[in-house]
Amino acid sequence: MKKIIFIALLAAMGCKPKTETKEETTIAHDSTKTMSSIQKSAFGKLADGQEVTLYTLTNDKGIELKVMNYGGIITSLKTKDKNGVSEDIVLGYDSLAGYLKATPYFGAIVGRYGNRIAKGKFKIDGKEYTLAANDGQNSLHGGLKGFDKVVWNAAEAMTPNGPSITFSYLSKDMEEGFPGNLKSEVTYTLTNDNELKLDYKATTDKATVVNLTQHSYFNLSGNAKRDVLEHTISINADKFVPIDKTLIPTGKLQSVEGTPFDFRTMKAMGKQINDKDEQLDFAGGYDHCFVLNPSTDSLNHAASVIEPVSGRKLDVYTTEPGIQFYTGNFLNGTITGKYNVVYNKRFAFCLETEHFPDSPNQSQFPSVLLKPGEVYKTSTVYKFSNL
Ligand code: GLA
Repeated sequence: MKKIIFIALLAAMGCKPKTETKEETTIAHDSTKTMSSIQKSAFGKLADGQEVTLYTLTNDKGIELKVMNYGGIITSLKTKDKNGVSEDIVLGYDSLAGYLKATPYFGAIVGRYGNRIAKGKFKIDGKEYTLAANDGQNSLHGGLKGFDKVVWNAAEAMTPNGPSITFSYLSKDMEEGFPGNLKSEVTYTLTNDNELKLDYKATTDKATVVNLTQHSYFNLSGNAKRDVLEHTISINADKFVPIDKTLIPTGKLQSVEGTPFDFRTMKAMGKQINDKDEQLDFAGGYDHCFVLNPSTDSLNHAASVIEPVSGRKLDVYTTEPGIQFYTGNFLNGTITGKYNVVYNKRFAFCLETEHFPDSPNQSQFPSVLLKPGEVYKTSTVYKFSNL
């Protein structure tokens, strides 16, 4: 009722519920609590003159998400701690300039193929494709200019669930070495149930491989006060994907039983991270894909994380078969991010929902092949709550 009155009021003022101005746009609708809204502001320019826009989505409980059309990058995500104090739970930079320098994919949409492809080579129907080797001899996260480094089209909307923004991007045939014109779309919805919902969609005009994910670096302490080793985590996986020393899957799936990879019940991220273990040695910590136990729910509960001091909790749900758990092992103090925090090793964790790494070369893994006429569709939910 209140919503109707609010919209009617806007109409009486000569406004539509969604308004566009050149400088700044705010669309909002009423709710019983805080007003949910979308605001739009200029965030700078790329070297070639393209304008980058920052969108601020707020839900009716006061969670605030900032995301830009460059790389679909989440630059800030503020949630409340157990005392109601709102703080940022993702790593990133204060300004666009930081993101334009070398960045370890902070907050970005990763594609066309998230994670690694061995030696940057794969075959489709007997034809070999070669990608840039940007991670030693392997291809990582879509190549030299992946989906994290392009400007996406953006369309904002107030939905019944909360404010949302849909990014779309056409990746041309043979862009970064991948076949097929790939039309991709990622919708971020900040629901009024305190979830960040990501809906991915893609279609192609030639057979190709697709594995899209979101690469936010979380630190639930708030404004990255300390490393993440005291965060506790559970992952709904009896098996993980073991890797070789170049972080490419060996091809087997390994039971987590009796290993530092057993997160079937909550344990601190740091509890076994320094154990003598070949898999941990290869990656310098956790940087592994976990094989999610099958579920009858379309959105499978993949992982839970708790930061005991702030009382923040994060739950991850996904339609994907795997989740990469990465403990920021490559952060080494060379980046100073927001709030002037130096990002040392293990200052964040990533939970990247995805198909398994190197699937194009591992026929026993769930397929990442997308053919003309098919629709790639996946969803992931990050849900925020308090202890
Ligand atoms: C992923 C990879 C890591 C690392 C980061 C980015 O999580 O699995 O090995 O490359 O991205 O630094």
